[in-house]
Amino acid sequence: MTGVSSFFDILAHEKRRPRAPVHSLHRYFGKFIPAIPRAAINAFTEPGQMVGDPFMGSGTTAVETRLAGREGWGRDLNPLAVRVARAKTADLDLHHLESLLSTLESGLAASKEDEIELPFCTNMEHWFRPEVAKDLALVKSLINGYEAEPERNFFLVCLSAIIREVSNADPRHVFPGYSKRMRELDRLGRMVDVRRTFVKGCQRRIGHYAKFRQAWPAAMSLDLRVGDSCTDELPPCDLMVTNPPYLGSIRYLETMKLEMYWLSLLADSEEYRLLDRQLLASERWYKQEYAQPISTGVSGLDAIIERLYHEGHEKMGYVTGRYFLMISAFLRSASGSLRTGGHLVVKMSDSFVRIVTVPAHEYWIQLAAEHGLDVVACRTDDYHSRSLLTKRNSFSRMLPHDYLLVFRRD
Ligand SMILES: C[S@@+](CC[C@H](N)C(=O)[O-])C[C@H]1O[C@@H](n2cnc3c(N)ncnc32)[C@H](O)[C@@H]1O
Repeated sequence: MTGVSSFFDILAHEKRRPRAPVHSLHRYFGKFIPAIPRAAINAFTEPGQMVGDPFMGSGTTAVETRLAGREGWGRDLNPLAVRVARAKTADLDLHHLESLLSTLESGLAASKEDEIELPFCTNMEHWFRPEVAKDLALVKSLINGYEAEPERNFFLVCLSAIIREVSNADPRHVFPGYSKRMRELDRLGRMVDVRRTFVKGCQRRIGHYAKFRQAWPAAMSLDLRVGDSCTDELPPCDLMVTNPPYLGSIRYLETMKLEMYWLSLLADSEEYRLLDRQLLASERWYKQEYAQPISTGVSGLDAIIERLYHEGHEKMGYVTGRYFLMISAFLRSASGSLRTGGHLVVKMSDSFVRIVTVPAHEYWIQLAAEHGLDVVACRTDDYHSRSLLTKRNSFSRMLPHDYLLVFRRD
């Protein structure tokens, strides 16, 4: 443990080091660069201490927690995120994984392609050719035959990781879309081989996992689960390192809906809608819900919200108010979960909302102070993730950099 002054030095050094390939097990938009949790863990904790990520996404912090020999926990409202984070960090036996894969391969070769029920997916025929859907269902049913959950989860995540590749959705697009380019490729006879793509993908991913597994100092406890970090009590920890969704940020759920339907993590479009509304920074609200402005109790913010309402952007006024009320609730939980002297490291961004720049980092600092978390560092951080550069929505403007905020619980 070296403290806040060396955090940024360690970070500069870590950014130049290669990332563990296991981080790429599954795509996920808005991923952390691993250097951030790695530097924070080195600077703010000792081996054996507890590291938490309340918005863990695909588990970048969890992987780095394992590599550093710390204990940890992670929470995310998205069940796919939890599955991916668990697949990356589970304590799996490599020989067993390899032998399960050979069994799977034999099962695929022997299959007579009986009718297998497809999971619910909106517009299945639009997104998947009939033979592709059939093969995906077959792979899924073979995986579901495994008894042990960690292995089953690993292969389900491998299956999820190829869904976009074998679908009709254009891989160049962030949100699924069957583009003109894809239609043209299909007209020219685009080949899709689900079984081969899956087996090759598993082999590559097992290889990545193997390298990571060899690098762990010891299997410390890691508790990763679905949870709402704005309403739930968070487990104790010495360090929290996280990047929550930004105001006006990418619609995470939409980028992953095909995968979630295939893994049966969403029963239908109503479940999709309800989960989307729960996410921090959600913009899925009805007129009657945002009829009245929300007060956050922070004068600068309330002035922004009022201005948005006044200029006819009621929904975004509501989204902004709700976002900061939820951030405040999260900071209260975070303060209760951090041990005295513990740190919270947040990667976040200011946002441009329709007509106004919201200096979110200033409000984070103000709200954190109200919950006993004092800011000890606030620095800008250049974008390093291609996915974060995605245009967030038609009204949001890209802001040139993110912030790294470090808070201490005294
Ligand atoms: C920027 S992503 C985190 C990415 C992660 N750092 C990684 O490397 O993959 C933000 C995550 O917050 C999750 N999220 C949104 N609202 C949440 C809430 N109220 N509680 C817990 N997780 C939430 C989203 O599902 C998303 O996975």
